[in-house]
Amino acid sequence: MSPVPKAARTGWSGPGASSAIVQVSRGHRIAWFLLPCPTGRHRCRPRRSAAPAFWKVRSVCRFRAEQAGEFGVHQGGSGSRSRGAWYPERFAWWFALTARSRRSRSGPIPPRRAASRGGCSPTPQRRPSPLRVCLLGATGTIGRATRASLVQHGHEVVCLVRPRPGIEEGFRQVDMSSPASIVHDGFRGERFDAVISCMASRTGVPRDAWAIDHQAHVDVLSAARDAGVGQFVLLSAICVQKPLLAFQHAKLAFERTLIESGMTWSIVRPTAYFKSLSGQFERVRQGKPYLMFGTGELTACKPVSDRDLAGYLADCLQDPAKQNRVLPIGGPGEAITPRRQGEELFALLGRKPRFRRVPVALLDAIIAGLGVASRLRPTLAEKAELARIGRYYATESMLVLDPRTGRYDADATPSTGTETLFDYYRALAYGETVAERGDHAVF
Ligand SMILES: NC(=O)c1ccc[n+]([C@@H]2O[C@H](COP(=O)([O-])OP(=O)(O)OC[C@H]3O[C@@H](n4cnc5c(N)ncnc54)[C@H](OP(=O)(O)O)[C@@H]3O)[C@@H](O)[C@H]2O)c1
Repeated sequence: MSPVPKAARTGWSGPGASSAIVQVSRGHRIAWFLLPCPTGRHRCRPRRSAAPAFWKVRSVCRFRAEQAGEFGVHQGGSGSRSRGAWYPERFAWWFALTARSRRSRSGPIPPRRAASRGGCSPTPQRRPSPLRVCLLGATGTIGRATRASLVQHGHEVVCLVRPRPGIEEGFRQVDMSSPASIVHDGFRGERFDAVISCMASRTGVPRDAWAIDHQAHVDVLSAARDAGVGQFVLLSAICVQKPLLAFQHAKLAFERTLIESGMTWSIVRPTAYFKSLSGQFERVRQGKPYLMFGTGELTACKPVSDRDLAGYLADCLQDPAKQNRVLPIGGPGEAITPRRQGEELFALLGRKPRFRRVPVALLDAIIAGLGVASRLRPTLAEKAELARIGRYYATESMLVLDPRTGRYDADATPSTGTETLFDYYRALAYGETVAERGDHAVF
């Protein structure tokens, strides 16, 4: 097989061609760049356009990283503008090749310097199994499932958890508010191949969110880089695509730090979990009406099971298609509205459907009231934020948001796994499982 990447073969159209025209588009914005052949196999001559083109594409690469999945890149050999369309990650060979030649000129770039330059992440690659993985949030809903999935894949898993009695084997007690504890009690100077984080603030209130979803992650990332870890998989949330709440801004701020870290990264943004959609199971079983905002059709989501999501997170370690990308992900099947969830619950429990509509304006009134009251009693500010979180989930769908139309798009929301929310409801109804609500009771 030719050592020249396929993209290069298609990009340089003949022995005389020394550059490729690359079109980068996002929405209605389109830019064209002229790139020299980085392999030198195609009689690449230095061109005046090479340096600015490289600079531009580097910035596009960073921009692409932030908006991964939203780009289309079209490339053709000189004179041919549309010979095949491909996505930016397939363009990574160009950065890898030029990075190699730059390194050979100036020596290796220390990880920290590469990151501070806003360096592009390494080319995704399939890694040999098993890996040594550092897992955060292993005591949470998705963290527990992820640990099980990693073990099932044969990886060695070390879990960093906050101090607690009765610690399990493979768990290390770490104070996440202390960078020194993360280094000395967590990483302990040992080798790890990857970090997976399912850690998140339990409440979502601003103080907790900035401490855990942002700062603790920044400190873990820094410790991981110093320990030579090359890969970081982050469990985020699909709602950060429309950030209105403190915890969403905190998550987004860390996403940006991770993208610019120079590590191989995956940012998984799931839709809704089963536990967040089963809060009314007991109400309905007790014969009470199902509560819904408006008509119950203001929002929709593609629920994903803990196990399916955990498998997806574990796959990020070794699937190059899931690396250096932001990955919105839902479960199998079509998008489901709250009304549809209620109908299914009544059917499963053999009860006549009874719905009670709650006006969104009620939440607005509560938020306004708590906002005013919190000026007199600051402790109420957190309650006001919880009410805002509640309102967000009452009115925003957990689906991919089309930035051009401002609408949620079920068809554009990728699916993974096999387990459906209604399978889960059935298991609840037959007593085969118990509902876990956790502290995210606002969902
Ligand atoms: N619920 C949904 O429908 C939904 C949908 C999409 C995305 N998400 C996102 O998915 C993520 C994980 O959700 P989840 O339901 O699995 O979370 P979870 O059950 O609340 O678990 C959170 C984990 O983070 C750990 N943690 C919190 N504060 C900590 C601290 N100070 N020090 C050390 N560890 C700490 C918890 O440890 P402890 O056990 O010690 O508290 C726990 O292991 C969150 O980012 C959430 O926003 C949720």
